[in-house]
Amino acid sequence: TRIVVLISGTGSNLQALAQATRNSDFRGEIVGVLSDRDTAEGITWSQNEGLDTAVVSLGDFSDRESWDAAMTETVNKWQPDLVVSAGFLKILGPRFLAAFPNHIVNTHNSLLPSFVGIHGPRDALRAGVKLAGATLFVVDPGMDTGPILAQTAVPVEDDDTVETLTERIKTAERAQLVESVGKMIANGWWIDGVHAGF
Ligand code: GRF
Repeated sequence: TRIVVLISGTGSNLQALAQATRNSDFRGEIVGVLSDRDTAEGITWSQNEGLDTAVVSLGDFSDRESWDAAMTETVNKWQPDLVVSAGFLKILGPRFLAAFPNHIVNTHNSLLPSFVGIHGPRDALRAGVKLAGATLFVVDPGMDTGPILAQTAVPVEDDDTVETLTERIKTAERAQLVESVGKMIANGWWIDGVHAGF
């Protein structure tokens, strides 16, 4: 199973997934890593690992449509079976979504539908919830709105800061991502009652 990973930053989810693919039972390989930022640490890490990488920055294009087209073309060349958005901080364009229907997943650092957007842990702390967590879902045109595939809850402790809560969530998130993608490869997945797979 050919997996492309989209990142914007550290890429710790990518690293966890890459480690899992080294186990032959996993039956998946990372065939490309795309970042929208050339400064993403995850890109340097990927290059050191010998993974194929590309940077497609919105700022290099005159409009979102041409960025979307370049993203689609770049990822299409890798012929992925599954696209994993892991810490990719831009909303994917309509052309990109149409190119890989129901085969793009995103990992998010809150228990959706609560706390969409890029400040999941901070917003959970501010709201005073006692459970936070991570959600894996199928990407649709909305922001963090697609069909949910998996969720993992972690406690919010009384003395948590944004940093400590973020770390607790990320630990659970990495494990969830590896386990869920493994299951998707093995068994397919369900979207609104309809089975999807490769
Ligand atoms: C993840 O927690 C993701 O949910 C959020 O940003 C983080 C990315 O971390 N959107 P990394 O780049 O995988 O380390």
